[in-house]
Amino acid sequence: MGAIGRPETRPEVRQLVDQYIAEHAARGWTKWRLADLDDQLVGRAGFGGTSESRGLSYVIRRSRRGLGLATEIAEALVGWHLSHTVAVPLRAIVAVGNDASARVLEKVGFVEAGPEDFEGTICRAFMYPG
Ligand SMILES: CC(C)(COP(=O)(O)OP(=O)(O)OC[C@H]1O[C@@H](n2cnc3c(N)ncnc32)[C@H](O)[C@@H]1OP(=O)(O)O)[C@@H](O)C(=O)NCCC(=O)NCCS
Repeated sequence: MGAIGRPETRPEVRQLVDQYIAEHAARGWTKWRLADLDDQLVGRAGFGGTSESRGLSYVIRRSRRGLGLATEIAEALVGWHLSHTVAVPLRAIVAVGNDASARVLEKVGFVEAGPEDFEGTICRAFMYPG
């Protein structure tokens, strides 16, 4: 996951992209680039986590928000998780106040599990049932 509350710096982005490429090569899942049919960047989405648990993650480019794209990709990724699962739980955490993201999770079937500290930020934890 990137830094909370600010854009990543260029070196941080380089490091993250290297990490995503390595994760994809090693285990077949990571966070991926999202593009539209014209190959314009729309955002980034996928999974963080370990072999013990996957964490759903998404970010939509500012100019493309409010169009249902996060919901569309979250739904697709839940489907991917269910067909590529090795019995690991699917979870997500949302910073308190990020109500749009919590709404996306609720719309695609996640259930709130309680508060959780993530690197000093108070978050709401969600679980995908099953
Ligand atoms: C959160 C984020 C992914 C939402 O993307 P999006 O494509 O605009 O989301 P969608 O259009 O699919 O759905 C947003 C839902 O939240 C609702 N919503 C938007 N702002 C809201 C707010 N302030 N309070 C409550 N609900 C809100 C929308 O009405 C919509 O729900 P609806 O379909 O029932 O009307 C986007 O704002 C983003 O990239 N934010 C920065 C990164 C981030 O926070 N990622 C998630 C980390 S957990």
